[in-house]
Amino acid sequence: MDSILPLSVRGPLPKPVTKSPPPRADSAEDELVSSGVDGASPRATSAAYQALPVSGALITHNYTPALPVLDADELDKEELEARINKVIEDYKEKLQLRTDHHMGYPYNLDFDYGPLEGLQKYCINNLGDPFIESNYGVHSREFEIGVLQWFARLWEIEPHEFWGYITNCGTEGNLHGILVGREMLPDGILYASRETHYSVFKAARMYRMDAVKVGTLESGEIDYDELRSQLAANAARPAIINVNIGTTVKGAVDDLDRVLDILKETGYTEDRFFIHCDGALFGMMIPFVKRAPMVTFKKPIGSISVSGHKFVGSPVPCGVVMTRLRYIKGVSSDVEYLNSRDATIMGSRNGHAPIYMWYTFTRKGYEGLRKDVEKCLRNAHLLKSMLEKAGVKVMLNELSSTVVFERPREEAFVRKWQLACEGDIAHVVVMPNITIRKLETFVQELVESRARVAVSEALRLAEAARERHGDDEEE
Ligand SMILES: Cc1ncc(COP(=O)(O)O)c(C=O)c1O
Repeated sequence: MDSILPLSVRGPLPKPVTKSPPPRADSAEDELVSSGVDGASPRATSAAYQALPVSGALITHNYTPALPVLDADELDKEELEARINKVIEDYKEKLQLRTDHHMGYPYNLDFDYGPLEGLQKYCINNLGDPFIESNYGVHSREFEIGVLQWFARLWEIEPHEFWGYITNCGTEGNLHGILVGREMLPDGILYASRETHYSVFKAARMYRMDAVKVGTLESGEIDYDELRSQLAANAARPAIINVNIGTTVKGAVDDLDRVLDILKETGYTEDRFFIHCDGALFGMMIPFVKRAPMVTFKKPIGSISVSGHKFVGSPVPCGVVMTRLRYIKGVSSDVEYLNSRDATIMGSRNGHAPIYMWYTFTRKGYEGLRKDVEKCLRNAHLLKSMLEKAGVKVMLNELSSTVVFERPREEAFVRKWQLACEGDIAHVVVMPNITIRKLETFVQELVESRARVAVSEALRLAEAARERHGDDEEE
């Protein structure tokens, strides 16, 4: 059969590379980036999680190696099968190992979707509006709507008053919530705290919105006094406010009621503000925490988003965004080709994700999730106490399971436990898969790592003295 490649691209394929080249320095920020030397930990004033790159050394030294696509034309069938199997088996082993040593990112890796295994042979795609079926029949909208109704009950909004969908991740939920806010209040200014996830400021850049980055308190919450003065100074323009229901690094929860009071004090009526609640991780936990402020549509909020692969746990990244139905008309249009409506950020949407969520919620129920939350908070407090006993400086926000502590100095330790670090701090996000036994191993290895660093620093002093003064045993 004739090749359909244009002549200019015929010929031998380029040789596969086994190591990715370092990224190009495309911007001033990139040029400031330097590699860690000899595996030494790079010192950063901000980290991958934070809103904008800052000057100083950032994280650049763990370049991804490539796994070249095998050459089916050169290998015989049997050899090819054997090679493929080996690659997959090795990869599975690596995944298991990495799963066993994961502490740093807010992912619940404890799930079992065994009965759903046969579904992966279907291309399940919920393209378009979840509430309006497209002509593409291999979808899971019925699961999606069921899950949305589950969330509507959790966040106290009537079934005929909400609109939402299952996203690809928390970021997409933030992009959608802020877009709805911008469409409702086109002249609005976006306010978000400095410790807000970078996706919120990305939305501001994408939608060309004016944004105010508000300072934070020691806990990581928004600085309420600064928010008040910023709102007062810009009172002529509406406000779109991102309220964090658990910040990325410190797990801080902005006080929604206090933000609402500040809006009232500064003269913003409900038609002049829109609040998006970013609850990527903790939005799923807060409803089950006693003493926590309620995040509910009974309060004048515009939207909430969460990630599905974080507290819930899922083999694919996913999330949920919910808003009021009356707002969505402004961001949607009919698409004849879909025979549905376009109101989402993405076109095609992962139809497997709603099934995972449906399955977990059905299996665990609200009570099962409450027990998971309880376990996480208990183990987070245990980890805090263990670290304190071991002489490690540590912080834990009252409502959070994110344990913040001094950044370990050995990069190998950080990599082994997959810790997210920012400047001088690291954190462990205690999820349902983190057991007491795992905490024991982690703390023991951390203490050993710190001791190694301390001994090597002490001996370095002796070495320097020897260089300066010679060995006194020879005197
Ligand atoms: C507070 C917060 N918002 C949004 C996100 C983005 O979520 P995702 O990774 O699901 O896009 C994160 C991720 O960690 C987060 O911590």
